[in-house]
Amino acid sequence: MHRRHLLSLAVTVSLAVSGSACKKKDDASGAGAAGSGKAEAGDIVIGHYASMTGNTAHFGQDTDKAARLAAEQLNATGGVLGRKLKIVTFDTRGDGAEAANAVTRLIDVEKASAILGEVASSLSLQGGPIAQRRKIPMVSPSSTNPKVTQVGDYVFRVCYIDPFQGKVMATFARQTLKFDKVAILKDVKNDYSIGLADAFQKAFVASGGTIAIEQSYSAGDTDFSAQVTAIKSSGAQAIWVPGYYAEVGALARTAARLGVHIPLMGGDGWDAPELFSIGGDALNGSYFSTHFAPAPASPLAQKFVADFKAKYGQEPTGLGALGYDGVMVIADAIKRAGGTAPAGLRDALAATKGYEAVTGKITMDKDRNPEKSVVVLKIDGGKAKYESLVSP
Ligand code: PHE
Repeated sequence: MHRRHLLSLAVTVSLAVSGSACKKKDDASGAGAAGSGKAEAGDIVIGHYASMTGNTAHFGQDTDKAARLAAEQLNATGGVLGRKLKIVTFDTRGDGAEAANAVTRLIDVEKASAILGEVASSLSLQGGPIAQRRKIPMVSPSSTNPKVTQVGDYVFRVCYIDPFQGKVMATFARQTLKFDKVAILKDVKNDYSIGLADAFQKAFVASGGTIAIEQSYSAGDTDFSAQVTAIKSSGAQAIWVPGYYAEVGALARTAARLGVHIPLMGGDGWDAPELFSIGGDALNGSYFSTHFAPAPASPLAQKFVADFKAKYGQEPTGLGALGYDGVMVIADAIKRAGGTAPAGLRDALAATKGYEAVTGKITMDKDRNPEKSVVVLKIDGGKAKYESLVSP
């Protein structure tokens, strides 16, 4: 099933966009396969750029599945303003240059009326300036770094931002878990990780805690023994690791192997089933924050989970919930704008107010960020369990 889904995607091509050397390699798009290929006249194209493969493949896959579910449901009830919504997806492979190419091509070649993506903040920071320059609205479903929407007035998101997420987890570490000394381990190649490390640190220190030690790594690293050894002798009671799931899973195993049995704590970047397949039991007793928990959930969220399960045979993660909301918010704005003219669509997105989404109510603030609740999860028995919900 995974396989079939992958085959139905257009694959990003490398595209030289500079000067007269402009050259386009032909892609391997699954033209004709369900849910892909060229849009038909009259269709509204939403261009999705996402890491469908690579180290963060879960991010793109879960988001894309949910985005397609949203489009399918809208189309089944007459579409948007009587037109069909068409999701065209390009794979960024988790790479910045590919992300920029994907947005360029989605707008220039696929004629997208709006862009959905990216998940990773570093990649949204590559794609955003292109959407902004071309004046095509972009909605990141799940990039939480504040800089993402600072790119300009055509860039939106449907998730909370990291100063809030970091503060929620710092308060949780300090007041609920009663920690005084925490170590920080961040990915120095990742804007999200750097920003969320900083947000946590500020809030933790402001509430009287101390940072025992700061360590770093780079995306793709698999050996964390030097960092864990240094943290072990620092007296830290927990490790704040605002990274993505693959490295966090590997870190958890290293910590267990080296006899470091303190909780790991992190943010939404942990939210993938692969976290558990990589980290296993070593993650028990750890905590992370995310955007959505299948339970408890509103009736709308329950319906989304049931529909997602029925279509794909698996539970969505927070990413899926946000991908679904991203498409629905774009569709709602198109309806209110009465069409897809870019400036009108941008204004309608900016005016989004009290929209009932799967991940909660969405109201865009003046910086094109919604205020949303943070879900805190505890890992127990190799599973993430709902711990608490913190509202702004
Ligand atoms: N918030 C992360 C970022 O900005 C992306 C992410 C969102 C990852 C949700 C997992 C779940 O980079």
